[in-house]
Amino acid sequence: MGKVLLFISALIFVLGFSVIANAIHETIPSETQIPLPGPNAEKLYEYIVRYKPYTEWELWPKKGKFYEGAEPHGAPLTTFVNDAAFHSIFEKKGMADGSIIVKENIADKKSVTLTVMYKIKGYNPDAGDWFWAKYNPDGKVEASGKVKGCIDCHSKMKDNDYIFTGKVK
Ligand code: HEC
Repeated sequence: MGKVLLFISALIFVLGFSVIANAIHETIPSETQIPLPGPNAEKLYEYIVRYKPYTEWELWPKKGKFYEGAEPHGAPLTTFVNDAAFHSIFEKKGMADGSIIVKENIADKKSVTLTVMYKIKGYNPDAGDWFWAKYNPDGKVEASGKVKGCIDCHSKMKDNDYIFTGKVK
């Protein structure tokens, strides 16, 4: 009788453990399991806010937080880069496929807008393959895709892969 009880409790323990392990597995996928989004502003937002929070990324090298920006982005701002972008900045060969740059434009603490550049190979060869996106403080998409306004101004930096903040080539 005692043995049976022991067996049953061991079984419950093992089953319970695998159920929990499975649940954790499903709700917190590891970094490598999350594919980069396609050229879709909502999916990109989910990726940079939920799956790989940009607030945990590296800052643009040698730029602190809350530095003063030029018009039209205004000041203060903080620029975050994902791993692909971070490495590209040092390699000086332009930004690699999959690079994401997130700029927080901080009017005040409650109204942070995000402007994002996301390199997707083959997406827009005429303008550096950048996918552009702008989000209001609620995460609503204000502009996205091959946004003319963004491209027109950033084209001044065409020789630097459309990047203003620092040399990447
Ligand atoms: C009139 C010029 C202008 C326009 C329009 C513009 N930007 Fe910028 N952008 C800049 C400048 C200048 C910087 C450098 C940081 C600063 O001074 O604000 C910058 C920086 C950035 C950065 C950081 C990477 C980099 O290039 O240095 C991102 C990301 C960005 N802009 C996204 C956007 C998006 C998305 C749009 C369109 C919704 C946009 N920008 C429109 C001028 C512009």
